[in-house]
Amino acid sequence: MCGIFGIINDEKKQAAQTVLDGLKKLEYRGYDSWGIALKTSDSNEILLDKHIGKIGNAVTNLPTGGTIAIGHTRWATHGGVTDANAHVENYQELQSELRHKKHQFISETDTEVIAHLIEEEAKTKPLFLATLTAFKKLVGSNAIVVLDGKTGEVVVCRNGSPVVLGVTKETTYIASDATALLDKTNTVYFMDDNEAAYINKSYIELFSIDTEKAKKLVLQKIDWKAQAAEKGGFAHFALKEISEQSTTIPHVLLKRSKALSEVAELIKEGYRPIMIACGSASYCGLAAQYVFADLGIDSTNYGGYEYAPFARLATDKTLVFAISQSGETADTILAVKEAKKRGAKIVGVINAQGSTLERLSDYLLPVEAGPEIAVVSTKAFTAQLATFFALHSVIKNDDPSTFINEFSNWIQSKELHKTILDCAKHLLKSEHIYLIGKHINYPSALEFALKLKETSYIHAESFASGELKHGVISLIQPGTPCIVLTAHDDIYKEVISSAIELKSRGGMIIGVGPDTNQAFDFHIKTHATGNLYSIFYNVVVGQLLGYFVGVGRGADPDKPRNLAKSVTVK
Ligand code: AGP
Repeated sequence: MCGIFGIINDEKKQAAQTVLDGLKKLEYRGYDSWGIALKTSDSNEILLDKHIGKIGNAVTNLPTGGTIAIGHTRWATHGGVTDANAHVENYQELQSELRHKKHQFISETDTEVIAHLIEEEAKTKPLFLATLTAFKKLVGSNAIVVLDGKTGEVVVCRNGSPVVLGVTKETTYIASDATALLDKTNTVYFMDDNEAAYINKSYIELFSIDTEKAKKLVLQKIDWKAQAAEKGGFAHFALKEISEQSTTIPHVLLKRSKALSEVAELIKEGYRPIMIACGSASYCGLAAQYVFADLGIDSTNYGGYEYAPFARLATDKTLVFAISQSGETADTILAVKEAKKRGAKIVGVINAQGSTLERLSDYLLPVEAGPEIAVVSTKAFTAQLATFFALHSVIKNDDPSTFINEFSNWIQSKELHKTILDCAKHLLKSEHIYLIGKHINYPSALEFALKLKETSYIHAESFASGELKHGVISLIQPGTPCIVLTAHDDIYKEVISSAIELKSRGGMIIGVGPDTNQAFDFHIKTHATGNLYSIFYNVVVGQLLGYFVGVGRGADPDKPRNLAKSVTVK
């Protein structure tokens, strides 16, 4: 997945700088290389500024005075940052056809194939039609922006990868994500698959790519504020977003929407819930299984990438919870489409606004965690989790206020951060960290481990505590860090017994939970709230521990190596 940004008719005549600033806001979408193309105002020439590596605090050497520019911050999906980055799955066939027509290539990227394809079509068609004809030949998940150096016309096409148009009275912006537009405008249009936009200094027109017919462009207002997408004095977005959970989680737990009631009714009518998601979102789906089980409801959680063999089980009584921060994860979208084909109803549990998954959803449960900029998901994960707890509250009519009061104070306590920071110092040189949890704290342990992996690059592996004696305990040797997730629940003694097993093999035991224990070398205190809610405490400890260990090891939790914020390729 990559980030694209463009501006047409920059009133300040700072188009190159505006695009650079926009790309910096999109850097979390891909940070292997970046580039800007500026239309010069007094000639047909397009000036280029291209670099390998993160944008960071880069400056551009492109001149001021321009009013039209486009840019790209790239994430290499395969191989090195200079190897093919195949969003266009059929780029090799297209490349050989173009080579036969004497096109000379200077790179192995699929993006360059698109440029030559358009150039070939433009021999017989105007730029707009040439671009649509070329785009129809692409197989895969793509969004492209094309700038004509002569006329200043811009064409945008979208199929699978997100594109948002931002509009003010004089200027049009193009961005992969609305968060890059928040300081410019909140009047936007989220382009849909198979749509193209023709943009010049005076107007925008929207078209269907297939029919090439004009479509009505219906603008909408987004309610995210610009500062929501800024660091706001925190060292990293990740730390800011962790701290925002003191409000985002209660907000979702207490929010009652029409969709929530309707989904609760469908469950009561016997619709069978399944969860489809990837990464952290799939651990939210696994936790949802325990939440549904607590209501006596059978459900199944699927990784989007593993759903295909099970799609045949979907019926018109299947209720798919599509869980996704971005709403653009290709593996999740493809799986949800398979279930939808078989009559399943789709419930979107999505944080971002205007996404592909949102369009596929029959119901939208409010996640409303605000823009999540750090690649490492934190507040979106717990807000998605909170939607299942809100559903639980609606069906079982229980009251989350005790948890809300205790949690909001706990997450902001300096004591908590100090304890976790002290613990982090003992993990900086670890090669392996093992985690155990039981029942709802098994998905807690999976998400906790992913935070450690993503932010610190340490190998962290989680097990259901009952798994230890079935082989896993052979991994433990003197000094091996073992994190034990506990709660005030009816299985506390069993989990402590597993902790003692680990201790007896020499493990360094980090106990997380309401009570300390003689088996613990470190204790990170949480609250004694009811067992299901313990996942919120234990996961937040994982977010903070991952953050402090990662920063302590010189990593960047906002932009971890090899990762991107949303994986829009399968
Ligand atoms: C979470 O920290 C990761 N960045 C990753 O696992 C993420 O949760 C996964 O790629 C799914 O993304 P989505 O929620 O946008 O669908």
